[in-house]
Amino acid sequence: MTILDGKKVSNDIKDEIAEHVKSMVSKGEKVPHLAAILVGSDGASMTYVNAKVKACERIGFNSTLVELPEYTSEEELLEKINDLNTDPNIDGFIVQLPLPDQIDEQKILMAIEPDKDVDGFHPTNVGRMALDLPTFLPATPYGIMELLERYQVETSGKNVVVMGRSHIVGRPMSILMSQKRKAGDATVTVVHSRSKNLKEVTKSADIIVAAIGISEFLTGDMVKEDVVVIDVGITRIPDQTKKNGYRLAGDVEFESVSKKASYITPVPGGVGPMTIAMLLKNTLLSRERHNNK
Ligand code: GUN
Repeated sequence: MTILDGKKVSNDIKDEIAEHVKSMVSKGEKVPHLAAILVGSDGASMTYVNAKVKACERIGFNSTLVELPEYTSEEELLEKINDLNTDPNIDGFIVQLPLPDQIDEQKILMAIEPDKDVDGFHPTNVGRMALDLPTFLPATPYGIMELLERYQVETSGKNVVVMGRSHIVGRPMSILMSQKRKAGDATVTVVHSRSKNLKEVTKSADIIVAAIGISEFLTGDMVKEDVVVIDVGITRIPDQTKKNGYRLAGDVEFESVSKKASYITPVPGGVGPMTIAMLLKNTLLSRERHNNK
């Protein structure tokens, strides 16, 4: 069994980007600038956004964190988005999800200028992805594709089961892996909360991408020998033996599934760090596109 070490691979990618930034600086070019908007003080969201900002500092990007209170109105958030859309110093930005109930998520995502949408969530960019056109790929699916590619996991002609149909992970993942591309060319099945005979489907999978948001849902009896398992889930489980009072669990029961798997991502240290690395990669791409305009 091989651990798909997202932490290591993401560090390699960050090193590659840092080198690139150094050469930009030496040529007197502008370095990439990423902004993140965080609404409210959800613990997990704060952790993710801070990790994104810290990663920017490490590789030499400029970063801006816009923190807004929980009670921010949709209008106020749209104003902030407009500021970033029109600020020539910002190459790309994200609005961390989820948003408070008073804000319509779709309306927000549609207000982001596609050209700065480094999360790849705008309908224009989702459409471009589906049509195989140059775009910003959403960071988590992009990170999974990169991880599979760097570990040379064969995907062509394989049965891939994507568990979950979210706009951020499941849906784009299923599209990307069925496309003619590196880490693609697979036969993809999407399962979700209404799917029947789940175990039958997962047992036939060569590769499983678990993104359903239910901790330790996929167990050893649901997979075949030598399966490749990508665990996208990350949930805080109360645990009084830990200093911070919780442990992190994925959507996969690591203990039982890892005994059968040929490759598996750990939680933490698998998909999570890859998401950040690919967001940085998209921001670099955005900077280069702006340079060439
Ligand atoms: N919330 C969970 N994942 C993501 C992500 O990739 N981007 C944003 N903006 N919010 C998220």
